[in-house]
Amino acid sequence: MREERPTDVLVVGGGIIGLSIAWRARQAGLSVTVLERDVAGGATSRVAAGMLAPVAEVEFGESGRRQLELGLRGASMWPAFAAELETATGVSVGLLQTGTLVLAHDEDEARELERQLEVRQSLGLTVRRLRPSAAREREPALAPAVRLALEAPDDHSVDPRMVCAALMRACVSAGVDVRARAPVARVELAGGECARATGVTLEHGEHVPAEQVVLAAGPWSGGIEGMPEGAGVPVRPVKGQTVRLRDPAGPGLLQRVVRFHGGYLVPREDGAYVLGATVEERGFELAPTAGGVYELLRDAHELVPGVSELQIEELSVGLRPGTPDNAPAIGRCPVQGLIWATGHYRNGILLAPLTAELVLGVLTGGEADPLLAACSPERFSASAGPPTAPTGPPPSTAGEPSKPAEPATAAKAVP
Ligand code: GLY
Repeated sequence: MREERPTDVLVVGGGIIGLSIAWRARQAGLSVTVLERDVAGGATSRVAAGMLAPVAEVEFGESGRRQLELGLRGASMWPAFAAELETATGVSVGLLQTGTLVLAHDEDEARELERQLEVRQSLGLTVRRLRPSAAREREPALAPAVRLALEAPDDHSVDPRMVCAALMRACVSAGVDVRARAPVARVELAGGECARATGVTLEHGEHVPAEQVVLAAGPWSGGIEGMPEGAGVPVRPVKGQTVRLRDPAGPGLLQRVVRFHGGYLVPREDGAYVLGATVEERGFELAPTAGGVYELLRDAHELVPGVSELQIEELSVGLRPGTPDNAPAIGRCPVQGLIWATGHYRNGILLAPLTAELVLGVLTGGEADPLLAACSPERFSASAGPPTAPTGPPPSTAGEPSKPAEPATAAKAVP
């Protein structure tokens, strides 16, 4: 059993959020340990497609507005974050700044897209209406079935697997202690009612002491024991199935991310594509299903017929961390020294650099960023109970098992 002096910062969770926080904290001179239940970057981050798409993903209502603000700031940070990470490690993160097309493939969807155009324009977002011919000029692989398209020229993509590989290298070479297969069972507290976090205990019984603990364990964050009343965040897993495809002829079928009713197709530089994703409330179940994969392929094929020529390389299933309002929980809670950084739902990749910056500010006692108010983990404290699906307007098909995600087109987007 290790006996250590407390690390300055103990990050629970070695996904893109935890690793980004760890890197930034170490750069700020803090000693940092990451405890990952399996292997770093091996769960939700590994399945994510990597869209940086705050404009295409605008959602309904108050929570949607808050997320738009987070998303726009997150997206604006990505080019510098990617460049810094690549320079530090020599590892490419696959940032493709090619924009996104949101597609309608019948008259109803086209009407909906017109409405979404107005919404986005009223919010001052950069988005262009494209007739089918203009959409096909940009992406010749699109089917004649396309009725209308919106172009979000600033919505880009990154390869989360490459980002996690780079972050791992950056963390390790900066001196972060990243421990794999170290599942955390509980947070340890001292001080009775004015509780203070003193570290964590692993499932096999080892105590790891720390000055500050960051909970960045995605959908597993809600299952960590020891949280006093009012300090918990109800996080639930939301299953997403994706299909990894490859064009044997190499890159070129699509340049841009395309989004459609039922999913999205994200091109990589090397002729690979990620087709996603279902949105399913099925707890921690991870099985790919024939129905889920069929619907993704069917919908993609209707708009990009060349999909049928692609080779299937992998089916992967991930669990997004969802809170009751599907907005993230970032910041302090009533337990001193305990910081939440989870609940990023469908936006974990987009929000990783921003989350790291926000958490670093909290860790170092910097001036509170105004965005933290919108992400306060304490907003759930009055109603904290078992994790539930959102009660507001649904942002997607969450709650309808085995149906692919609603458009990414943010068909329900209103300000
Ligand atoms: N960010 C895309 C998804 O969660 O499917």
